[in-house]
Amino acid sequence: MDIKEEIARLRSELNAHNIRYYIENSPSISDREFDEMMHRLEKLEQEYPQYDDPLSPTHRVGSDLGGGFAQAAHIYPMLSLANTYSIEDVDKWVDRVESALAGQESVMVGEMKFDGSGISLIYEHGRLVRAVTRGDGEKGDVVTDNIKTIRSIPLVLSGDDYPDFFEIRGEIVLPWKSFERLNAERAFNEEPLFANPRNAAAGTLKLLNPAEVSRRGLDAYFYYLLGENLPYDNHYDNMMAARRWGFKVSDAMTLLHNLKEVDAYINHWDSARRELPVATDGLVFKINSLRQQLNLGHTAKSPRWAIAYKFKAERAATPLRYVSFDVGRMGIITPVANLEPVLLSGTIVKRASLHNEDIMRSLDIHEGDTLYVEKGGEIIPKITGVDIEKRRADAPAVRFVTTCPACGTPLVRVEGEAAWVCPNRWGCPPQITGRVEHFVGRRMMNIDGIGEETSDVLFSTGLVKDIADIYDLTEQALMKLERFGPRSAERVMEGIESSKSVPFERVLYALSIPYVGETTARKIARTVKDIDTLMAMPAEELEAIEDVGPRIAESIIDYFASAENREIVERLRAAGVQLALSEENARATSDKLKDKAIVISGVFTHHSRDEYKSLIEANGGRNVSGISKKTDFVLAGENMGPSKLEKAQKLGIPIIDEDTFLGMLE
Ligand code: IVH
Repeated sequence: MDIKEEIARLRSELNAHNIRYYIENSPSISDREFDEMMHRLEKLEQEYPQYDDPLSPTHRVGSDLGGGFAQAAHIYPMLSLANTYSIEDVDKWVDRVESALAGQESVMVGEMKFDGSGISLIYEHGRLVRAVTRGDGEKGDVVTDNIKTIRSIPLVLSGDDYPDFFEIRGEIVLPWKSFERLNAERAFNEEPLFANPRNAAAGTLKLLNPAEVSRRGLDAYFYYLLGENLPYDNHYDNMMAARRWGFKVSDAMTLLHNLKEVDAYINHWDSARRELPVATDGLVFKINSLRQQLNLGHTAKSPRWAIAYKFKAERAATPLRYVSFDVGRMGIITPVANLEPVLLSGTIVKRASLHNEDIMRSLDIHEGDTLYVEKGGEIIPKITGVDIEKRRADAPAVRFVTTCPACGTPLVRVEGEAAWVCPNRWGCPPQITGRVEHFVGRRMMNIDGIGEETSDVLFSTGLVKDIADIYDLTEQALMKLERFGPRSAERVMEGIESSKSVPFERVLYALSIPYVGETTARKIARTVKDIDTLMAMPAEELEAIEDVGPRIAESIIDYFASAENREIVERLRAAGVQLALSEENARATSDKLKDKAIVISGVFTHHSRDEYKSLIEANGGRNVSGISKKTDFVLAGENMGPSKLEKAQKLGIPIIDEDTFLGMLE
């Protein structure tokens, strides 16, 4: 076969497999076969650059290029939807529409209202040419490079009945699973959490680094086709055509013929939406006939042919006990509302973060207030307001602390950020113990036997005042502590010893350099290879590393500018901690298990559990402890625990043996 033809065939097959995988959820080939085809295509495109195509499936990974976003005007303005919270209002809208249409029969389409970020895509001759955010409705940001990383968006369309030129609108969403993973990572790195998937999706779309966009796992649902030559005269058939061309159109989209069906649709989805993989904040009803839509027209803000029915968020009211202020390992102060326990969507809520001073102030909380709590994004409880009627007349407003609640140092506010910080890095107990806890954590140095309580004891007895002190601990010193016996002291000493072989990338993460999270640390370690090079790097060179922007570069420079930190590094070096990437580590890395959550269970023959753990991490995956819906697969040896086995089978999680696993990494 001629090269050009082979390239074309690979592209179209990969596009078709993408649709089967990301849209239809029914892949027909293994991931491995898919990767092989992709590699073959990559290779051919490299060898024959004359046949390259910016819309080839190989270009979905995203590059680091790009500055700010250009703006583009929408061809048709992006309107919003009239909203209601009651079924009666929806019924009234149906009546209104029918009388405006002078008694003509009208069919409606019911669909989900996806809670993400609106997007407009333009296709010419079946190829994606531009993606623009909603912006102010008239014009938005051109985010084509970021959009291209979303695997469920077709870059080149299937079939042949699409118009030469059309626009399609939809919603960019961050599925719950990706949202939870992103926030867990951010919590771990003490970065501000996203309040809900909508903010996370909008924030992600505006990132200047498409590679990071790709990593976060966005998805997209489409609900509106616009253009001069649409294939059908009604919305529903057009959307079904769009589905054939490769767009993800929700299965919930359905034709409704009368009020009874509309009401039943609402009643069904009011609860069934909780099972969906993405956030929805309501339903949308649209008149199906495009001719009738045209007759009904629109107001300045929204079309008369559509209405949104919004779901009520689950909310509870509960008295505030007090506001506490937590001090994190980076010194950031987080206000927390401590509540009278209350049941909300199945779990008991007692504490809810108030995030920072600005958010706390905008809520205007007074002592003894009754607060409204919602499950923001249905998982993280969120304070959404105050029941003013229940406020005592003389209740004083709750104020943000001005000094550190742990050490009394006056707080400082970092320029350009909402956070107050305790600057007493070397003397503030929760910062020190927080750094020690982070350092010994499983994903960092993995020193067993030192948890929250032990690090408090080690600090209060003066044994550990910084992370390097850990390497001066002796079995005798530990044995003198109340909670230690010979066995537990020995276990800690063993953990300390084996931490000396933890690879450099994890050591770098363990240091608690502000803004340097797990992924960033890995990228830095793999790029610079050793700490001495890193310590000598000027900002420009740091910023050339993938994922490192000016803020992270400055933070790294600040960190190593401190004499205390440099001394810690020297003491870690003297103790034998890995401060350079070993040959083996520098080599055996890949993205083959990127974003995969993997449980290890059982006894193995080829490698130890720890070695498998390192292998998973070196290939971009995560080793997680418990099996849940979010687990991608179980790496199982002999004698996998029966309860784990049962759970994996119940949830339909694949169980992979050692040899298959090693084959995946080859
Ligand atoms: S139709 C002219 N359908 O909600 C009407 N919008 O409040 C165009 N949205 O900006 C929108 N799901 O970002 C439509 N099934 C759906 C939707 C939907 C979510 C968003 C969209 C729009 C906003 C309007």
